[in-house]
Amino acid sequence: MCGIVGYAGARSAGADAVAGDLGANERPLEVALAGLKRLEYRGYDSAGVALVGPGRDVAAFAKKSGKLDNLVGEIALHPLPPATAAIGHTRWATHGGPTDTNAHPHLADGDRLAVIHNGIIENFSALRQALTASGVEFLSETDTEVAAQLLAREYRTTGDLTAAMAATARQLDGTFTLLAVHADDPTTVVGARHDSPLVVGLGEGENFLGSDVAAFVEHTKEALELGQDQIVTITPDAVTVTDFAGNPAEGKRFTVDWDAAAAEKGGFDSFMDKEIHDQPHAVADTLLGRTDAAGRIILDDLRIDEAVLRSVDKIIVIACGTAAYAGHVAKYAIEHWCRIPVEVELAHEFRYRDPIVDERTLVVAISQSGETMDTLMAVRHAREQGAKVLAIVNTNGSTIPRESDAVLYTHAGPEIAVASTKAFLAQITAAYILGLYLAQLRGNKFPDEVAQLFDELRDMSRKVQTVIERGEYVRATARSMEAADKVLFLGRHVGYPVAMEGALKLKELAYIHAEGFAAGELKHGPIALIDEGQPVFVVVPSPRGRDQLHSKVVSNIQEIRARGARTLVIAEDGDDEVRKYADEIFWIPQAPSLLQPLLAVVPLQIFAMALAGAKGLDVDQPRNLAKSVTVE
Ligand code: F6R
Repeated sequence: MCGIVGYAGARSAGADAVAGDLGANERPLEVALAGLKRLEYRGYDSAGVALVGPGRDVAAFAKKSGKLDNLVGEIALHPLPPATAAIGHTRWATHGGPTDTNAHPHLADGDRLAVIHNGIIENFSALRQALTASGVEFLSETDTEVAAQLLAREYRTTGDLTAAMAATARQLDGTFTLLAVHADDPTTVVGARHDSPLVVGLGEGENFLGSDVAAFVEHTKEALELGQDQIVTITPDAVTVTDFAGNPAEGKRFTVDWDAAAAEKGGFDSFMDKEIHDQPHAVADTLLGRTDAAGRIILDDLRIDEAVLRSVDKIIVIACGTAAYAGHVAKYAIEHWCRIPVEVELAHEFRYRDPIVDERTLVVAISQSGETMDTLMAVRHAREQGAKVLAIVNTNGSTIPRESDAVLYTHAGPEIAVASTKAFLAQITAAYILGLYLAQLRGNKFPDEVAQLFDELRDMSRKVQTVIERGEYVRATARSMEAADKVLFLGRHVGYPVAMEGALKLKELAYIHAEGFAAGELKHGPIALIDEGQPVFVVVPSPRGRDQLHSKVVSNIQEIRARGARTLVIAEDGDDEVRKYADEIFWIPQAPSLLQPLLAVVPLQIFAMALAGAKGLDVDQPRNLAKSVTVE
């Protein structure tokens, strides 16, 4: 939530660039705007930049409510001067509405100091009162302006922006990443980090700051992960890290393992469309390198002692939204393969109750961004009580893996569309890997059984591709349903979380009321919602599966059809039984029952995207949402 970019550089931008040229130029603004474009998925209520350069006694700035294009238009009308350092911000509003005035940066010290912020400053009201009493006038309703005024006061005392930032950070409660530039020091950007993300990009003759590496990956893949409660100062040639007390500290270097092109649309109309098409790779890449020559699963980066994993007597999955639905799928697979009880809990609920957790509990935190505040807080809550935490995360350098005992990275690549698609498939894949690994380790399955299941899992990437290739029929159906105002989704067993995810996608993208139900629950209430023409998606389990699940779901379809529902059915190739009861049928390849979610969710993603597109909505940036929810 809120995207932040910072740049300090002394390179000229054009072809006539002179090495070591310390003159101000256009590059800081270009880097800031390009970084904001890549970070816009983190919030799009407003955007702004501030620039400093030699010989200028105030910071230049521009800010505008609405999407980044509005800011770009504003700068085209009122150009900003050349510079040597810049900060940029794209906002998801918390304190104060999405207006031009509340947009960041916030200026202080006679417009010499500019500050941007991600997070929530919880003691802002008391600080604001104290500053007001000392004569400070506030222009905006934001908590950020309080931090800017506090920083200005500390700077007047110390004359040193880094020391002033540390002094300011010590007075703030809540969560924050702050970046600041001051006209007195035009080649420096200073940042502070407390429970909000901030990474450093290491360039040559230039350095970068960003909420995540997308902010600078087109310029450098060398990065530095910062710890909590650290201050970072970048200049063109140096990066210095300290703690809030001013003691030297160190970041952890890493190399970004994806290209800038991975964060481009690559010829698709939207990031979401591209990311749906990326899914076969997301599954295959997440599986890469997980087995040895003998076919045994190896998880080198797991960092939890095997003896501890053998003694685990309960697993709790904590996550939010789509990631939590991946956790629900994990529950069915892990319980079946490993015979360990698995609970799935929304991270924000887990954190505020008194969960029964001890050293024999394995907590699995699932997060695409690795920054979701609710999940991070739940990770801390679990560890405080002695549980080991294993993170399933997509973003290298993010906070949740850093604060967990172990990490299993998904390799979905950057997910830019706000609503999650490929990360979901990668999370489910990683959960299957974990389940099979635990089954292997604890002897629940013979090695050849694990190897066979793993082979079936490998084959899922090809099958996901097949479902995507069949997408046109789904799109055409979606386009014909533009007028729908309520859509229901039913599933059983692993089809139940798929139904919930299908409903979530439709809510997020097409703003249509949608609910996912366990099909068995239908007669206990939801069937009252069915009337003539009501569209109902039904995820049908494999007819080859166990426990008569298939026939139970087919009965459910008949029950809703008898009451007038229009049935849209996801079914396996060759399922002749269900064909009779489907108004529309979306075929998916045959697969082992537990692995079916990887296929069944894809038509639901395509449906939601196409319906939103037919309604003229922005599928990449749905209203009110932001990716990476870094506030509670
Ligand atoms: C929905 C969606 C969200 C996220 C949730 C958790 O499409 O993207 O529900 O899944 O906010 O985010 P991460 O996985 O980053 O922790």
